[in-house]
Amino acid sequence: TVDTQAQGLHVVITAGPTREPLDPVRYLSNHSSGKMGYALAEAAVTLGAHVTLISGPVNLPCPAGVERLDVQTAQEMHDASMRLTANCDIFIGCAAVADYRATRQAAHKIKKRDGEDGLTLQLVKNPDIIACVAASRPTGSRHPLVVGFAAETRELETYARDKLTRKGLDMIVANDVSQAGLGFGADDNAALVLWLDSAAPDGTGHEQLPAQPKTQLAMHVLRHALARLAAGATP
Ligand code: PMT
Repeated sequence: TVDTQAQGLHVVITAGPTREPLDPVRYLSNHSSGKMGYALAEAAVTLGAHVTLISGPVNLPCPAGVERLDVQTAQEMHDASMRLTANCDIFIGCAAVADYRATRQAAHKIKKRDGEDGLTLQLVKNPDIIACVAASRPTGSRHPLVVGFAAETRELETYARDKLTRKGLDMIVANDVSQAGLGFGADDNAALVLWLDSAAPDGTGHEQLPAQPKTQLAMHVLRHALARLAAGATP
């Protein structure tokens, strides 16, 4: 059902993995299926928002009413995100962005070398897309509202809090990706949502969302984001 607060808002969502080429036939990537990001896009459209989905390579149909931009690499996802951020109200970084790419992409297929058991790849850091989006806002501005995800296999809350503050986010959705049946590739997910709240004793609000279909969890995440906007996070 349409939410009057969401109507007319522009929501930009990144989803899926990125692919970092090593040579013409190989790449570095991860197990993100895009399901979580696509569920967020669908939920945002259902609420009445205008939605742009910046998607890495996944095998999912584009949800009806969503505008999709396909990208492959973290650099391409960064460039599309920076282009769209000025005109959006909520930016949600759900993509599993490769932290590193090959320093140099080989022009030809890397050959297996006789007499050498090892191969060393030299990697360089990719831009941190969501941190760039957050930093692109004028000082003190929370427009767009920036929502990140944190995929952790241990110390979920500690690492998520660190990402919330270090990347300059307004809200973070932390998921434990070591739990069977949840996280990467699964239809279900559970999350700890943390957000900046100056009225709270430790400066952050939090809510635990139990395991449920990603479609349902996405709706909860969006309602949290809308509540942040309503709480005056916009200028
Ligand atoms: O796609 P699914 O199979 O449905 O799985 C969903 C998911 C597990 C991928 C999703 O719920 C999730 O956790 N997405 C974030 C994955 C991730 O890479 O998290 P991170 O903790 O490494 O990154 C933290 C945040 O920084 C994320 O918002 C990420 O998009 C962002 N980031 C990270 C690195 C980078 N170079 N640029 C970024 O913007």
